[in-house]
Order: sequence, then structure tokens, then C-alpha cells
Amino acid sequence: MNKINITVTRYNPEKSSEPYPQSYSIPFREDMVVLDALNYIKNQVDGTLTHRWSCRMGVCGSCGMMVNGSPKLTCSTFLRDYYPGDVHVGPLDNFKVIRDLVTDMSDFMEKLQEIKPWIIRKEEKPLEEGEYLQSPAELNQYRQFSMCINCMICYAACPVYGHDSSFLGPAAIALAHRYNMDSRDEGQDQRAEIIGSHEGIWECTFVGECTRVCPTHVDPAAAIQRSKVQLTKEYFLSLVWPWGKP
Ligand code: FES
Repeated sequence: MNKINITVTRYNPEKSSEPYPQSYSIPFREDMVVLDALNYIKNQVDGTLTHRWSCRMGVCGSCGMMVNGSPKLTCSTFLRDYYPGDVHVGPLDNFKVIRDLVTDMSDFMEKLQEIKPWIIRKEEKPLEEGEYLQSPAELNQYRQFSMCINCMICYAACPVYGHDSSFLGPAAIALAHRYNMDSRDEGQDQRAEIIGSHEGIWECTFVGECTRVCPTHVDPAAAIQRSKVQLTKEYFLSLVWPWGKP
């Protein structure tokens, strides 16, 4: 049977002071993804290997890792794209490592909470008045931004976040934009305080890596630039109508 060499970055803060590489030679099949290789190692070779995954179908966003230097969903990345070369798997860049390939998500979870990723109404209408209806055209205003699976791959690719982790980051801003564009939502002013802050959209230097690496084809770079235009427009309107729009 053909074999492939998988090198994994190992790190157990309780046992080692620095991460180190560990290589495994495992059977190769054309239909194997990187996550299959890690599961094979975990189940057949070395049970101490620690990695995170859940759905195995590109939906849950939990299996993001660096594969040969690029952030990828390991359940959607085929070994055959690297074979017969070696494959190096490491934890997502720009995040603290808890153990081996598992990173600490708490910074992202806090940022997600800050941008209020839910529909905000100034006043809820009574239940008996029915749903908040939306046309297909209104849905299309935000649809692509709702495809984010919170995998944090865009954060691993973002040089601004890598330089300064106080930056709100691509996924959080894309999700804020998703709700701001929703015709049922009235929370734009509340989110503007966060996305328009020093750590928000103005930090982005429009490198565009977030959009390039997104496994679900969300375009966070576009969300950030559109938010800049929107907030700039609102700023100038506030100069014309300092007491609020007529
Ligand atoms: S395991 Fe769920 S996205 Fe990969």
C-alpha cells in the first residue's frame, strides 16, 4: 500500500516548553482528507494526538488547521493534492494553542458577542401580526455573508489580526454586515459603535486574504469595505442633519 508522510506540530504545555514536529508514515488512499489522516494517527498510531473536529462535512467549522502553511478545513482538504509530497499540519496561525492542533477560540467568541449577531428590533410587533416578511431581493442583500461557519480560517490568514489581536477581524465584521443588511434588523446604530471603533473596520488594510481563504466563499473584505462606505456616508449625513435625518 502507498504511504504518505504526515508531520504534525505537537505541543503539550504541561510537558514541553516549545512546539515540536512529529512525523507519522500512514497508508495513503486517493479519497482520504487531511482529517482522515489525523483520525488514523489518533486511532491507530498515537492516541495522544489532540485535534478538534465534528461534522466532517465542511459545516461545523471546527477542523480548521494550517496545512502546508495555508489555513484550511481539514475535512475538505484532500491528501491527494499533496501526495507524494509530505503534508505538514499545524494549529491555526494567530491563535494561542491549547494543545497540539487545538487553539483557544475565546477571543473570537467574545468578538462575535460584541457585534450582536442577531436581529435587533427597536420595537417587536405583536405575535398575532405574524412573521417579518422578506423578499428574495432583500434576502440576497445579505445571503452570502450568512454562509460564515465561524471556522476562524480568515483570522489565521489576516496579517492585521496577526499583528494586533485587538482587531475585530474579518468574520465578526462580515457577520455584523450580514445583520446590518437584513431588512428585518434595526440594530445598525448599536453595531456601528463596535465596527466603527478603533479596533473595527478602519484597521483593515484591504489585503484580501480573508476572502481568498474562506472555505464557504464569504467575502469578508467586501463586507469591510462596504461598511466603511456606509459609516462614512452616515458621518457626513450627520454633519448635514446634526439632529438626525428628517
Ligand atoms: S469537521 Fe466540521 S467543518 Fe470540518
